[in-house]
Amino acid sequence: MEHEAAQTQPLIQFDHVSKIYDQEKAVQNVSLTIQKGEFFVLVGASGSGKTTTLKMINRLLTPSQGRIIFQGRDIAALPLKPYRHHVGYVLQTSALFPNMSVLENAAVTLNAQGIKTKAARPKIEQLLSEVGLDPNKYAQRMPHELSGGEQQRVGIVRALAAEPEVILMDEPFSALDPISRQQLQQLVAKLHEKLRTTIIFVTHDMDEALQLGTRIGVMQHGLLEQVDTPTDIVLHPKNAQVAAMFKTQQAPTVSDLIALGFYQLKDDTSNLPTIKPESTLAELAQAFLNQSEQLVQGNDHMVVTQHDYLRYMAQQ
Ligand SMILES: Nc1ncnc2c1ncn2[C@@H]1O[C@H](COP(=O)(O)OP(=O)(O)OP(=O)(O)O)[C@@H](O)[C@H]1O
Ligand SMILES: [Mg+2]
Repeated sequence: MEHEAAQTQPLIQFDHVSKIYDQEKAVQNVSLTIQKGEFFVLVGASGSGKTTTLKMINRLLTPSQGRIIFQGRDIAALPLKPYRHHVGYVLQTSALFPNMSVLENAAVTLNAQGIKTKAARPKIEQLLSEVGLDPNKYAQRMPHELSGGEQQRVGIVRALAAEPEVILMDEPFSALDPISRQQLQQLVAKLHEKLRTTIIFVTHDMDEALQLGTRIGVMQHGLLEQVDTPTDIVLHPKNAQVAAMFKTQQAPTVSDLIALGFYQLKDDTSNLPTIKPESTLAELAQAFLNQSEQLVQGNDHMVVTQHDYLRYMAQQ
């Protein structure tokens, strides 16, 4: 019973929240409760109000109307600095300081709490390992010596280090190539599973929303149109627009095949043609007419074979 109670403990509540710019409502009358431990995904077209909603949570923006409640208290009444320690933020581009090492960058949230980088080091190193960055190799590197995906991993470590109650993520993987994006999606899903930190994740990618969210909120023109589990959104869309959003998913691609594990790792791939991760399965089938093994572009060992393709199709 205690476990159940813990699962439905409201962490953040929107109470009739609007944000108005020059009489235009960027966010309209949103009421929403996010439970502790949820992986909540806000999804919607460009300009629908997702970022505005997120920024009101960490008080980068103030609601024009309504209130936001955090652990039972109106955030407007909380002292800003301690409140911010409870709220981690991961942006679209990593926003690392270019003149600071990975270790120093990752430690800034702890520095803000008065913990020196030296003292923070063991914890940062442990988190770096956790996100797949060997601290011996990466701790002293500078941001320009990292790939985009690695920079986002450091951004995640920075947010996690302070052990916030909630982590806000605004399209954190949208600038990455499909393979890195998939790896990072799997990583945050795994971290969430393990740490159970509440995550509020913004994306305009419906596939990403369905893959990651334990619940999804669909925004349109500033309105929160529907809040449901991924299954219910797909099976019972509230209106035609929501249905259309989740139906206009692109044809499956090579990335989808890879995400489900239909690939091989091969040592010698020097003679293989390459296929792009964003190629459709029709294009892949076409490529197989010439060669039954295709190297996935952007890496040296990941190969999709005709057999992988058939296994995938058989499963659909
Ligand atoms: N400072 C501002 N002044 C006036 N209008 C603004 C301001 N910031 C945002 N808006 C408007 O509010 C609406 C919502 O913007 P918001 O950034 O929340 O959208 P979004 O859903 O995050 O879009 P995207 O997917 O493109 O990031 C947009 O119409 C935008 O033009
Ligand atoms: Mg945005």
